[in-house]
Amino acid sequence: IDNQQCVFYVFILEIRQHSPVEAGKCPKVCSCDSTKLMVTCVGKNLTEIPPTIEEITVKLDLRNNNLQVLPRGAFILTPYLTHLNLQRCNIIKVKEGAFRTLGRLVSLNMAYNKIDVLYQESFDGLSSLKELHLDHNRIEEIQPGAFTQLGFLNMLALTHNQLVYIPNMAFQGLNNIKWLRLSHNSLNNLDLEAFAGLFTLSRLSLDHNELQFFPTQTMTRPPEVTRLDISHNPMTYLGEESVSMAKLTHLYLSHMSLQDLSNQALSRAPLLSHLDLSHNQLRYLEPLSGPEELTSLNLTGNPVYCNCYMRPLREWASVRGVKLLGACAGPPHLSEEPLQAVVPLDLRCRSRGEMLKDEFEKDDESTGSIPPTAKPKQKVKCPVNCDCDVTQHATCEGRGHTKVPRGFPTKTQLLDLRSNHFHYLPANSFPGTSQVVSLHLELCKIHEIEGGAFRGMKNLFYLYLSDNDLTSLDPGTFAGAPELNYLHLEGNRLIQFPGSALAVLPSLFVLHLERNAISKLEPTGLLSSVTPKLQELFLTNNTITAIAKGALDSAFLCTLHLDSNQLTEIPTQALSEAPNLEELNLSQNSIRWVGPNAFKPISHSLKSSLNDTTVQMSRDALAGLGPGLRALTVRGNQLEELPDLSPLTGLQVVGLQDNPLLCDCPLLPLRRWMENVSLEVIATCGHPPEVRGQNVRDVHVFTSCPESSAPPDERVVVAQTPPNVKKPKAMPSLKKHYSE
Ligand SMILES: *[C@@H]1O[C@H](CO)[C@@H](O)[C@H](O)[C@H]1NC(C)=O
Ligand SMILES: *[C@@H]1O[C@H](CO)[C@@H](O)[C@H](O)[C@H]1NC(C)=O
Ligand SMILES: *[C@@H]1O[C@H](CO)[C@@H](O)[C@H](O)[C@H]1NC(C)=O
Ligand SMILES: *[C@@H]1O[C@H](CO)[C@@H](O)[C@H](O)[C@H]1NC(C)=O
Ligand SMILES: *[C@@H]1O[C@H](CO)[C@@H](O)[C@H](O)[C@H]1NC(C)=O
Ligand SMILES: *[C@@H]1O[C@H](CO)[C@@H](O)[C@H](O)[C@H]1NC(C)=O
Repeated sequence: IDNQQCVFYVFILEIRQHSPVEAGKCPKVCSCDSTKLMVTCVGKNLTEIPPTIEEITVKLDLRNNNLQVLPRGAFILTPYLTHLNLQRCNIIKVKEGAFRTLGRLVSLNMAYNKIDVLYQESFDGLSSLKELHLDHNRIEEIQPGAFTQLGFLNMLALTHNQLVYIPNMAFQGLNNIKWLRLSHNSLNNLDLEAFAGLFTLSRLSLDHNELQFFPTQTMTRPPEVTRLDISHNPMTYLGEESVSMAKLTHLYLSHMSLQDLSNQALSRAPLLSHLDLSHNQLRYLEPLSGPEELTSLNLTGNPVYCNCYMRPLREWASVRGVKLLGACAGPPHLSEEPLQAVVPLDLRCRSRGEMLKDEFEKDDESTGSIPPTAKPKQKVKCPVNCDCDVTQHATCEGRGHTKVPRGFPTKTQLLDLRSNHFHYLPANSFPGTSQVVSLHLELCKIHEIEGGAFRGMKNLFYLYLSDNDLTSLDPGTFAGAPELNYLHLEGNRLIQFPGSALAVLPSLFVLHLERNAISKLEPTGLLSSVTPKLQELFLTNNTITAIAKGALDSAFLCTLHLDSNQLTEIPTQALSEAPNLEELNLSQNSIRWVGPNAFKPISHSLKSSLNDTTVQMSRDALAGLGPGLRALTVRGNQLEELPDLSPLTGLQVVGLQDNPLLCDCPLLPLRRWMENVSLEVIATCGHPPEVRGQNVRDVHVFTSCPESSAPPDERVVVAQTPPNVKKPKAMPSLKKHYSE
């Protein structure tokens, strides 16, 4: 049971005391089926959830009401719900924590409401949810972290909303998602990492959107997608290697405006079996290279001109057994003839003389003897020595600019200026770029940024200032860019945590400060007061020796990387102020001793990475770390004994290799534990000499041990007090690693 659940448990009891509810009573506007534990209150213009619904209810149907706002803890009195229907309830806003008590809910339907923003904590607590219907709302924005709690979700429906843009990592946390439905929005831009982390996604629906180009790179990220429906998008051309999806079998590209398709377009979709190209503007198609398994190619509704240019495709289809669907649109004698029925010999071109005659008489559209090949290009204005294209991307990467160029198209969303020589960025460096979402300024030798440099960039979400020469930041540096969520400052020379500069960034979510020269984290101007929403902080490879009390005071911080610094002890006190920390990396510090209860303050939330080097542990060092831990690696150390691992019942991975374990009765609890768990555990004896190198599982020395687990004796290395530095033999090093 984690801490949040505990808190809510207490909360439930409190509510009970203040408003006792008569059990077994059906609210008068509802009908209740007590055998099926089902309550139905449909179409009653209810403005709040009836407070007298029985606690044991598992299905609650509240369709067609007038709830408007779902407050925090809205379902606190019905914790056993598995199905909840809130369709057409006029819901405008879902408050943070609204569902927090519904840990058993499997299906949630909120279709046909008026929700416009999905907030970070909207779905907090729905840890068993499998289906979430959010279709037919007005969703324009998905805030980072909106879905992080939905680790069991299989299907997410966001169709018929008003999404224009999907930012990086928007679906982070959907660790079991199978089908993501984004049809019928207005998507015209998918960030490169929009679908990153969706390792289980097999089906993706993006049809009926505004995508002008196939999002090649973005689609390489979800590795297991087999079905992609991207039909009904205004694409005109599919170039070489446009589709690079290793597992794809079904691709729907119908009802677009495709005029041309490179024969290499699918060369990186080797498993494709069904390709739907129906209702496009294709007059010809060459044999497709890549998909060896293609069985069906649908060309229905294309103006296919059945002359000699189509012959290679026809022959290829016969040889490969590819079924061609569709019919010829011309020439007249083959018109309406099914492609499958046309024999290759009929696919002929007229003589040169006939063709020339045709060209004089008709427009070239009707002769159709020359396949279109050129990729259509639209002209857009663009500064000298830069490239701008219709996808709202502009780049001047590595062009030797010494001043930030001006005059980008006003619709530009991604501006890439990396690898230039700007040295200094004056105020108002980016006029007319209010639509820019992502700005790249890596490797630009920038050593100073004047206050207000980014003024006017009111949509800036990602800013990359990595690998420059910044030593400090003016407090006004980021003024005027209030939407900044992801800030990259790694690889600079900052000597202090730039707290004052961050104070103008209320939405900051992820902050990268790796490879700087920060030596201390001070309590002043940090975290909660400055960047209330910060969730991920990366401080790898600085020179941090101390973290003051108050320096990590943050309600939301969940990832903290402090590896490769100079810490000499676990900053237990500072960590206790980050109650939601889940992932902590302390590897590569100089921590030689982990005292009792070192992780206790965060033990309820910590479930991810923690990796120490060269430490010795108190017997109670792991106190409090229980079922939440997923992995533990203690490899390659000098351990002769191990602490009791039996409380770590959630372990999925364990690595005990390469330690010289002392195979004698004190190790019996470990041996018992090994026999008891279903994990594969490899542990080898280092002592005594006669069993050196043998697997702990295989040695027989334990058979002579007394039945009760042997008490730890003098030799145990797990000590109660810091090691005596004068006795190097008693100084094993222990690396711990906890990860998902
Ligand atoms: C529903 O409730 C609202 C406010 O409670 C009220 O204004 C409205 O008239 C009601 N509508 C119907 C159809 O009862
Ligand atoms: C081919 O495309 C047409 C038009 O979109 C559709 O009606 C038909 O079902 C498709 N055939 C197959 C086998 O997919
Ligand atoms: C730390 O940074 C230095 C200099 O940038 C680099 O050489 C070193 O490899 C980095 N160490 C780690 C562990 O990343
Ligand atoms: C923790 O830090 C170490 C050393 O920098 C690194 O090798 C490791 O990948 C990090 N672990 C995680 C989970 O980030
Ligand atoms: C843990 O630390 C060791 C040594 O520093 C490193 O080799 C290993 O990759 C780390 N593992 C993770 C995932 O942090
Ligand atoms: C073995 O597992 C059972 C239940 O899974 C548990 O009660 C018992 O304490 C375990 N024994 C050891 C030695 O870990």
